[in-house]
Amino acid sequence: MKIAVIGSNMVDLITYVDQMPKAGETLEAPTFHMGCGGKGANQAIAAARTGANVMMLSKVGDDIFADNTIRNFQQNGIDTQYVEKVSGVSSGVAPIFVDSSSQNRILIIKGANAHLQPEDIDRAAAALKQCKLIILQLEIPLETVYYAIDFANHHGIQVILNPAPASKALSLEYACKCDFFMPNETELEILTAMPVANMTQIQAAARSLLEKGLKNVIVTLGAKGSVWLHGDQVIQVPPCKVQAVDTSGAGDAFIGCFAQHYMQTGNVLEAMKEASLFAAYSVTGKGTQSSYPNQVEFNAFKQAQLS
Ligand code: RIB
Repeated sequence: MKIAVIGSNMVDLITYVDQMPKAGETLEAPTFHMGCGGKGANQAIAAARTGANVMMLSKVGDDIFADNTIRNFQQNGIDTQYVEKVSGVSSGVAPIFVDSSSQNRILIIKGANAHLQPEDIDRAAAALKQCKLIILQLEIPLETVYYAIDFANHHGIQVILNPAPASKALSLEYACKCDFFMPNETELEILTAMPVANMTQIQAAARSLLEKGLKNVIVTLGAKGSVWLHGDQVIQVPPCKVQAVDTSGAGDAFIGCFAQHYMQTGNVLEAMKEASLFAAYSVTGKGTQSSYPNQVEFNAFKQAQLS
């Protein structure tokens, strides 16, 4: 079953810091890592590495990063027929700062990602109609996200919407048309304007979305695991305890793996458990995609968790 990711790609420029500089201050940081990233691309790679057949709809710039980004998709078995270059524009870039507690702070410069338009969906329509699931995030224009949701609804294709980065401009009407709405706790807080300091508050904020008509809300909670709200049901999946090095891209790892496993089994809870393990593996390594395991590495990790 084919999955389409309609979304961003970025070049991640990750600086590991002991301390963030104050205004006007220069500080030395210990290490730096550059790699392929972007929420859309990360989710596509995670789905592909866990065995999904993935097509990507995305835009790169006409700079030194573009060919490497396309090659990276291809090396991971992703269909890049609809990854196109935009002339006169830079590729998306994301400066990321990871602190000594492995937490990340991310800036994005959208570059070519801002040029992914509804017409691009029309041009890829025949290929998209072969897909059973479309995954979307918010690093491309909102009008393209809405167009993709309408396209998916019209053709009976399921939709996962990852509302990241959180945008208060996101239409609730469109969020309601998605099968799964998957924010992290920070995004949930911004989107609902409700506190998320503990599990009771997180569930109340997620429930407020169900009351507005959303179908399934799955909140990724990092070291606290994840929680799925659907109808009256609240199901928590505990975290898998690991020694975290870099949490960048862990939410994307979760979503990509969830999508693959959900497509394969139709079982939401089992897909969440699998995704928790995949995301846990990802935080043990540096970078975003560079920390995602292949199937051999993931199977070995799962075995080790069981023993
Ligand atoms: O979710 C992590 C991703 O956010 C990074 O790869 C960065 O590129 C930004 O898009």
